[in-house]
Amino acid sequence: MAERHFKYVILGGGVAAGYAAREFAKLGLNPGELAIISKEAVAPYERPALSKGYLFPQGAARLPGFYVCVGSGGERLLPEWYTEKGIELILGTEIEKADLGSKSLISTAGEIFKYDTLIISTGSTVVKLSDFGVQGADAKNIFYLREIEDADNLVAAIQAKKDGKAVIVGGGYIGLELGAALKVNNLDVTMVYPEPWCMPRLFTAGIAAFYEGYYANKGIKIVKGTVAVGFDSDTNGEVTAVRLKDGRVLEADIVVVGVGGRPLISLFKGQLEEEKGGIKTDSFFRTSIPDVYAVGDVATFPLKLFGEQRRVEHVDHARKSAEQAVKAIRSAEQDAPIEEYDYLPYFYSRAFDLSWQFYGDNVGDTVLFGDNDPTSTSPKFGTYWIKDGKVVGVFLEHGTPEENSLIAKVARLQPAVQDIQQLEKQGLAFASDI
Ligand code: FDA
Ligand code: NAD
Repeated sequence: MAERHFKYVILGGGVAAGYAAREFAKLGLNPGELAIISKEAVAPYERPALSKGYLFPQGAARLPGFYVCVGSGGERLLPEWYTEKGIELILGTEIEKADLGSKSLISTAGEIFKYDTLIISTGSTVVKLSDFGVQGADAKNIFYLREIEDADNLVAAIQAKKDGKAVIVGGGYIGLELGAALKVNNLDVTMVYPEPWCMPRLFTAGIAAFYEGYYANKGIKIVKGTVAVGFDSDTNGEVTAVRLKDGRVLEADIVVVGVGGRPLISLFKGQLEEEKGGIKTDSFFRTSIPDVYAVGDVATFPLKLFGEQRRVEHVDHARKSAEQAVKAIRSAEQDAPIEEYDYLPYFYSRAFDLSWQFYGDNVGDTVLFGDNDPTSTSPKFGTYWIKDGKVVGVFLEHGTPEENSLIAKVARLQPAVQDIQQLEKQGLAFASDI
């Protein structure tokens, strides 16, 4: 079987891969030095679009509209861009074996790719209900959303099941964004999740109360404190109902499941040091093996601001870690040191006409401020997280770009808080005074 060699190989063709390619090009690259190997059939794109604009009933986002790096206000890297730069895009190619000792990757078709330096950016995959043995979970029209092909299948089902019933299993990012997207497509939506409130990974009860109220006002039904234990289907194998642990049965033409992600690192089991479910790296995204870097969702890296190793499953870090790794690779070649990665966690989401941003860490006591009444015509509210007398995290719904910059600054500077009640009264004014 053919064997090919590249100076640099990026394994995985998602967000991090695209931003890494742009950084390589920026720092100078000779044609033929870099290859991106991706299971997906398309060039790197901004994955967040799949659960938002891609699902709009009108004016939906489609490629080439959201190739990287448009999501951060940068140039759109069309497939021609890679050709011009002499970067090889090896698409529709899944690597099934990685031998880091011999610096080779082997695809399912048996092709061998050799590298001098490897960047692992395989991202995450979805946790499936069939992984927990949920009965009937393989029925047709039960969807997960990770890649563009999943989104295309979902769009086809939305069109086929016009005005039908949709059940969303999971109350995290996918649950909240897809619940809204399906409602906007005029489906009758019910959401089911086990926790007492949505997005417990980040939201406090006060934050969640706003979103649950807002969704209810849009006509979305929310069933909490239970899980899906089985699915019924018709003679075509299409899902017809979701059976819940509490005995309830929900009719369904479409089911979307968002019960979490899992970093794709099994190719490297036993070859690389792992930590907290990811590949352990240093501040330059170097792994435990020389010339192998890991970025994006798969990397567990030193989060300097909090003094601990963390893994982050969000797009801003995918972009920035990729750029840092490429800078580190090039600086090692030129023996010109660069700064350590000093990341401020930043997450965001958009659904309906809502839009929130969060910076920092969600630990410690919380202070809710502003108008979080879901029936309000112009809700604007936020939350500060306070640990050891300092603000360590800030959440804001409906912030202007200036206000979002302010809360980012607060989370970075971690100002001391003298009086919590005063902070509640001050709200955003506290951030403006920093
Ligand atoms: P990413 O998942 O982007 O790319 C991994 C790539 O590797 C894929 O192309 C995959 O096919 C490929 N691959 C994996 N294994 C392979 C193999 N063995 N061989 C070949 N190729 C392989 N974040 C945020 O901050 N705000 C948001 O609004 C959203 N919205 C959002 C929506 C949806 C639907 C999803 C799924 C995710 C988000 N995210 C998000 C999360 C964000 O998209 C995510 O953190 C980044 O895409 C991670 O970038 P990576 O490059 O690490 O992985
Ligand atoms: P998540 O971890 O955000 O949410 C998982 C949710 O699944 C939990 O909150 C819980 O409510 C629910 N759950 C767990 N087990 C369940 C069960 N048996 N039955 C019903 N519900 C159950 O994960 P996700 O929403 O699936 O997102 C997957 C990945 O995509 C994550 O990496 C996420 O960061 C990423 N993503 C991010 C964004 C964003 O940042 N805006 C948007 C979409 C996806």
